Amino acid sequence: MLVASRDDPHRQTWPLETRDGVVEPNRGTRDPRAWFASDAPQLSLAGQWAFRFSERIGASLDFVAPTYDDTRWDRLPVPSHWQLHGYGAPAYTNVRYPFPVEPPHVPDENPTGDYRRTFAVPDEWAGLDAILRFGGVDSCLRAWLNGEEIGSAQGSRLPSEFDVGALLRPGAENVLAVRVHQWSAGSYLEDQDMWWLSGIFRDVALLARPTASLDDFFVHTGYDHVTGQGSLRIEASAPARLVVPELALDIATGDTARIDRVEPWSAEVPRLYHGTLATHGERVPVRIGFRTVVVENGLLKVNGSPILLRGVNRHEFDTDHGRTVSGELMRRDVTMMKAHNLNAVRTSHYPPHPHFLDLCDELGLYVIDECDLETHGFERVGWRGNPADDPRWEDALVDRMRRMVERDKNHPSIIMWSLGNESGSGRNLAAMAQWTRLRDPSRPLHYEGDQTCANVDVYSRMYADHAEVEAIGQGTEEPLSDPALDARRRTLPFILCEYGHAMGNGPGGFSEYQELFERYPRCQGGFVWEWIDHGLRQYTPEGRPFFAYGGDFGEPVHDGNFVADGLIFPDRTASPALLELKKVIEPVRIRADASTGTLLIGNRYDFRTLSHLAFNWTLETEGVPLAAGHLDVPTVRPGREVELPFPQLPSRSGESWLTVQAVLAADTDWAPAGHEVAWGQIPVSPGQPLPPPRRHASPVVDENGLRLGPGAFDPISGRLRALGSLEVEGPRLDVWRAPTDNDRGAPEDGGGLAAQWRDLGLHRMRHRVIEVLTENDAVVVHAREAPAGTDVGLRTTYTWTVADQMLVLSLVVMPEGTWPVPLPRLGLRLAVPARLGKIEWFGRGPGEAYPDTRQAARVGRFTSTVEDLQTPYVMPQENGNRTEVRWAALTDKHGHGLRINGLACFDFTARRWTSETLETAQHASDLRPSDRIWVNLDAAHHGIGSAACGPGVLPRYRLDARPTRFAVAFTEVDQ
Ligand code: GAL
Repeated sequence: MLVASRDDPHRQTWPLETRDGVVEPNRGTRDPRAWFASDAPQLSLAGQWAFRFSERIGASLDFVAPTYDDTRWDRLPVPSHWQLHGYGAPAYTNVRYPFPVEPPHVPDENPTGDYRRTFAVPDEWAGLDAILRFGGVDSCLRAWLNGEEIGSAQGSRLPSEFDVGALLRPGAENVLAVRVHQWSAGSYLEDQDMWWLSGIFRDVALLARPTASLDDFFVHTGYDHVTGQGSLRIEASAPARLVVPELALDIATGDTARIDRVEPWSAEVPRLYHGTLATHGERVPVRIGFRTVVVENGLLKVNGSPILLRGVNRHEFDTDHGRTVSGELMRRDVTMMKAHNLNAVRTSHYPPHPHFLDLCDELGLYVIDECDLETHGFERVGWRGNPADDPRWEDALVDRMRRMVERDKNHPSIIMWSLGNESGSGRNLAAMAQWTRLRDPSRPLHYEGDQTCANVDVYSRMYADHAEVEAIGQGTEEPLSDPALDARRRTLPFILCEYGHAMGNGPGGFSEYQELFERYPRCQGGFVWEWIDHGLRQYTPEGRPFFAYGGDFGEPVHDGNFVADGLIFPDRTASPALLELKKVIEPVRIRADASTGTLLIGNRYDFRTLSHLAFNWTLETEGVPLAAGHLDVPTVRPGREVELPFPQLPSRSGESWLTVQAVLAADTDWAPAGHEVAWGQIPVSPGQPLPPPRRHASPVVDENGLRLGPGAFDPISGRLRALGSLEVEGPRLDVWRAPTDNDRGAPEDGGGLAAQWRDLGLHRMRHRVIEVLTENDAVVVHAREAPAGTDVGLRTTYTWTVADQMLVLSLVVMPEGTWPVPLPRLGLRLAVPARLGKIEWFGRGPGEAYPDTRQAARVGRFTSTVEDLQTPYVMPQENGNRTEVRWAALTDKHGHGLRINGLACFDFTARRWTSETLETAQHASDLRPSDRIWVNLDAAHHGIGSAACGPGVLPRYRLDARPTRFAVAFTEVDQ
């Protein structure tokens, strides 16, 4: 006797909707259509809903009855994710599904949220049609209105609409009941690398549909860059007229208007024309951007010109609300992107809230709109059963593409459709492409997973290294096995849909990618991975805030801090990587031609001149401003460069730099006048060598120990103990840094370079003082520093001398043996009293910089504090290095402290904990100040690279153990 079966309706087998084995994504939903606002009445259903949570399936469906009493239920805001309100817990996985792979089934441990709310609709709605629209529900919904089931839907980041006019009771109370499951068949299509977060997370609204209203429309525009003519045609579900007063235009749907001399839309100048599309029943504001996108002669062109994509991948994320992102934060994202010279965004890996696209239209960003599709977890089972290639999933996949394209088709900012991300290959992707080409032939298609490019119009890769990008630029990439496909792919433009993995400190190598994009026309730029760290704000028991990542919620299966890999921190402050990127992709290149003694100003925009910018210059000597002025820059056409004479500079002595800035001449929607867009620095006078010292000193050895001028040393170890009245834990060789995410490499790399460093023992070097000598005017310490268990080592000679009031240390390092790995860093570590927390330096700044992440750091004089020198990476790691430092001073609040002068430039970090403590911390909140400040003065650092996902450090930025000389001078100062 069969007691229970999946087919038993009482077991509520939904969310598994299959018919004859075919996965049915929706039941009862309306045809997908454009998302637009109009003058028709609408009612937001956002607010507090009654909510009941169950850990697994099987809760009673009694709540759908209008008479059900939910007064004892909890209350949950809509939109929101229930995990962020104490129900279940967030969980993070990258590739792995957190449930068994047996498509389309999901486990009975399927967290379920039952939602209820009542609402009233105004009497005027009587007799009108009405649509209930869910903007996004993760992962599926089933809904009842006034006790009647209206349907069900999957597709978390896609709208689902239901006709509900006949069920509404105007003037009376209406009861909406919704059941949402965390897992559904759709979850197999939503394996994006991000938090699993469930619930009704985008707006819910009721839209009245007056008689003769518009159901859907499609704005077709074009721009002829030769004649300057714009074309416009509106296709609509009902006859309507479009009026655009500014163009004196009044056309019927179906007619094509040709308008002489329109201003085209581009990300650089996002010109929109405002019109109204009207039927008898409804008026819809439309924003029209005239632009044409084509792939032609192997190039992706907008309005006839090839464009260079300076892009970023954006997930929707708010540190407190997950993928429920407010309009204000969406605007913050777009304005920050614009202010950092980005011109493009890939909506990885699902269509964003439509308001974000409105902002891209308005403020100017090119968009690759990506379908809500990723089946990456099938890779781990050899792609067996991948929905992308199983005919039973075709409807489910094509449905997702239709819902995206129909919703978003009227956004001029969207220049490409993307079929999804990391879903292998298969017939259903081809079906999605085929449907899209028929529906919207005006936009090229993208899908990185299709390396044959059979279904797409651009050749796209992720994390290709510089050498591969160069080969593709030259057209010498590895051929495909199919000659016809290979020949076609060679005719396609190339983009890196993901590169520069911004996890933790780094990535290094942006500028080298940019050089390739600028050198090879086929390489049309890329999209950095990714915009924001998805760290969820949590608090320690003592109330200290921190950003949580995978594993922090006790998930049995998780991928740690791989979820924190953005250019901005979870609280949306810029990380050094964003500043580096801004500099590397700046649209104006400012440099000097030494041979002619002129300034060169290059325009790297694709469309506009530089007339919206003002150019200022400043002359600084030793970082102190000496003179400033304004430059008159003539018209520079896109892609061109002009030569200008140098400004008249006053005479000066000391190291001097001319800084030229290009700033916004007037306020824009995304930054005020004066906002710096680009800069260049030109050295105009070299630094002067230190004058020969007038006073030397000789070492003294007595019962008080060993002294040399202001320095007091430990006679046994030869280490400095004090400088005048300052206690110092004297400098000693240091090669260790708290490994960065990039040092640790990709998850499959077995710990990356950091593991090799640890394996060799570089984190636990042993020290052996060979001898401490006094000479005429020097203290000399010979030592050997080496890891245990091996015969490689570093012979070191520390020579201390006095020059005037300065205690000079010159260090010579000679490697012994065969070093199998590069060094993390090479320099000195010392400790000073905790009160010396004020920092000033002359060198590159103000931000952190490493050998391959130093473009944004300019030469100047900067002040900071030890606290502010730290970069708060979500996972603590090496950070905060200041590079090419000439001198640095650490002082207390009275100005008393230590000044360090480099005999050549040095790298500098100062923190209130050691590298070892930094390394063991799991969150920034774990780091507590010690009783000292630990200072590293480095001759060099190993580069940063992007090995957390992508290529490691370029050969030129490797720090191999080699003979090294390094010298710094210490002075006690009282400022
Ligand atoms: C890519 C993927 C992204 C993200 C990234 C690593 O393979 O498309 O979603 O997982 O790697 O952070």
